[in-house]
Amino acid sequence: MRAAPPLFERLPEQYFTRILQVAAEARAKGGPRFIDLGRGNPDLPPPPRALEALRAADYHGYAPFQGEPALREAIAARYAADHRVDLDPDREVAVIPGTKTGIMFAALAAAARGDTILLPDPGYPDYLSGVALTNATMKPLPLEASAGWQPDFDAVAGERPALMMLNYPSNPCSVCEHEGTFERAVAYARERDTWIVHDLAYGFLAFDGRRARSILEVDRERSAELWSPSKVYGMAGWRIGFLVGAPELVARVRDLVDHTTAGVYTGLQRGLAAALTGDQADVAERRAVYRRRRDRLAAALPGLAVPEGTFYAWWRLPDGLSVTGLVEEARVGLAPGEGFGARGKGWARLSLAVPDEDVDEAADRLAGVLATSSGR
Ligand SMILES: Cc1ncc(COP(=O)(O)O)c(C=O)c1O
Repeated sequence: MRAAPPLFERLPEQYFTRILQVAAEARAKGGPRFIDLGRGNPDLPPPPRALEALRAADYHGYAPFQGEPALREAIAARYAADHRVDLDPDREVAVIPGTKTGIMFAALAAAARGDTILLPDPGYPDYLSGVALTNATMKPLPLEASAGWQPDFDAVAGERPALMMLNYPSNPCSVCEHEGTFERAVAYARERDTWIVHDLAYGFLAFDGRRARSILEVDRERSAELWSPSKVYGMAGWRIGFLVGAPELVARVRDLVDHTTAGVYTGLQRGLAAALTGDQADVAERRAVYRRRRDRLAAALPGLAVPEGTFYAWWRLPDGLSVTGLVEEARVGLAPGEGFGARGKGWARLSLAVPDEDVDEAADRLAGVLATSSGR
């Protein structure tokens, strides 16, 4: 086995840090107001019930490392209601300090030095960061536009990966899981003794009558799921989330929590438990807001494929246009597609996690540049 390069050579440039830099530089230059659609940072606040529980917690001791039983029960109740999956809160639930940390824990739990980890290409760039910390070898799991951005398992038939990451609704491709994708993934994994970690960060954002399935509806032996309140409840800075499913993987991640972060602050746990419990009408309201923005963007921007889910749009850049050029000409920040993997080259991700007026203004400006460039 070839020796892996040292840690700080393996770590890629942090993609979103770079996007923030580009936005800061564009703002510093002056000129018309810069509108940043590069980052997915929700503009809608957390539900009042979560904020009240956080304030009421007023607790300052160490939290139980494995999370409060009431939170683990609230997680199980949410899965039963949303997915008809009955989780054992003691064996199948790990409370983690944000799913970004969970990506690294899952990779550490599944893959030893040199093992292969399959990452969707295009896919969320922080998989690369989290997994680089583990010393595993990363291989792309190709998603093709012509296949609705669903995985091409034939392309990786010769691999025996320790772990495969999946993410539907997909960041950045903005599509939902299509019928049979999870079944094919589980069949592939069973043949090769592979763990699957499915990232359901945008599970509440499936549009036009679609439902985002949990992979646990298909398999709970070798599949686990990451679940984040960052987008669904607008709690992105809270740094709390959970991993549910395959008991062996969950047990390893719980062990890593004990050894590293020692749990999550009690107030955050109580806030999350409150958010997960009771009437979820606010979640439907959030979905309606993002769908409205999606429709406005799709109507204004010619050639945009209408997103099936998430609060992003995945845009094939017309010939002659680049993200750098659009930042200059339209003063709109976009996330360059190649940062999501080799198959993202020529594409850009637009975030709808900004106020409606900004979506409208950005779409008008982009459409204006497009019209001028096609007449050049
Ligand atoms: C697909 C995906 N997974 C995970 C995360 C990280 O979420 P968290 O805030 O729970 O770390 C994000 C955030 O943008 C995401 O888009």
